[in-house]
Amino acid sequence: MAEASGPAGDKPSEAESESESKPELASEQIGRMLEEMHLRLCPGLKETEKEAPKQVLGTIDVQGLAKFIKEGKAKNIVTMAGAGISTAAGIPDFRSPGTGLYDNLGEYNLPDPMAIFAIDFFQEEPAPFFKISKALLPDKFKPTYTHYMLRLLHDKGLLKRHYTQNIDMLEDKAGLPEEKVIYAHGNFKTGHCLACRRQYDFEWMRELVLADKIPKCEQANCGATVKPDIVFFGESLPARFANNVEPDFSSADLLLIFGTSLVVMPFAALVDKVKDEVPRAYFNRELGEGAVSDWLALLTGIKTGLQCNAEDNYRDVFVKGDCDAGCLKLAELLGWKAELEALYKEGHAEEEKPGASGDAQKTDAKSAS
Ligand code: OAD
Repeated sequence: MAEASGPAGDKPSEAESESESKPELASEQIGRMLEEMHLRLCPGLKETEKEAPKQVLGTIDVQGLAKFIKEGKAKNIVTMAGAGISTAAGIPDFRSPGTGLYDNLGEYNLPDPMAIFAIDFFQEEPAPFFKISKALLPDKFKPTYTHYMLRLLHDKGLLKRHYTQNIDMLEDKAGLPEEKVIYAHGNFKTGHCLACRRQYDFEWMRELVLADKIPKCEQANCGATVKPDIVFFGESLPARFANNVEPDFSSADLLLIFGTSLVVMPFAALVDKVKDEVPRAYFNRELGEGAVSDWLALLTGIKTGLQCNAEDNYRDVFVKGDCDAGCLKLAELLGWKAELEALYKEGHAEEEKPGASGDAQKTDAKSAS
């Protein structure tokens, strides 16, 4: 950015003085300036722009997507997910009007809804976060069809990596091995004392949270709050995220994105990390912010985010609706529907067995009534 702007106090250049006297040239100059800015920000683009982007999908729809996978052209699939993949499990997302978490925090008296996940606020007032955590503890919920679709991709040897913003660990419950999942916003598996960094496990935190207590460090002379290893606003993403993004995305041959508004950075920007010809499919109820080509793209030619509604879209498939329905449709087109349904059925039966974590849902529901 520093390179793009001249030092303060520079005299107007010849071109600038000219534009003052010949206003009809202003738009041409603005165009050149934007092109210049575009090249400075994205130095590799000049060469690639010369070639027309390659369309590798026969048709830009779920049928085209299924054909691409069926023909064996997707062997290194990277998937991305947000809260929308877990709403069918009973966990609210963040931003859906009315039902999203941020619309339902009135009782917490927060300076703004996102403060509940802001590190500065948590350090001062951890109680609201732990109160909401009690309702959202990960052992209460069962994976959805979308989680089992991820599992199926893994079982078939097609999943390169799954990147999730979710902290509910339903990917884990659906049977995705740990090395296949990047918990970009952390999870509840462990926690650390904010002061001495002593580590605590989920079970220890869970007991306290269920008893409406704030987990406090048990180390002698400490007693500071213990925070689950969830990435709060104001904190860095885990090193595993940073270490894997480049190799995973640069070698991906298909990107599948499920149930996220694509508004939180740096996660949302991952969609731009795959190669230009790599198809991207977005399973969501509506086109999130990052999936709409905006005025800046029209003006500057710098296209970031998905281009589902752009006239020259050549690779971004929008599978509108609930992502479970989208996954079942895709599975059907792939001839995998029976396998997906069986995984879901077996997984849920396992969760319902006495002593399984899903059993906590029934116990808690009983004690709440
Ligand atoms: P959002 O609530 O921002 O977006 C969820 C998206 O999923 C919305 O576009 C919904 O319309 C869509 N959706 C909901 N249910 C769906 C379903 N069953 N099928 C298909 N689409 C569905 O949640 P995220 O994008 O995950 O970060 O939010 C990103 C981050 O913002 C979270 O990780 C969290 C939050 O602040 C932190 O707390 C650090």
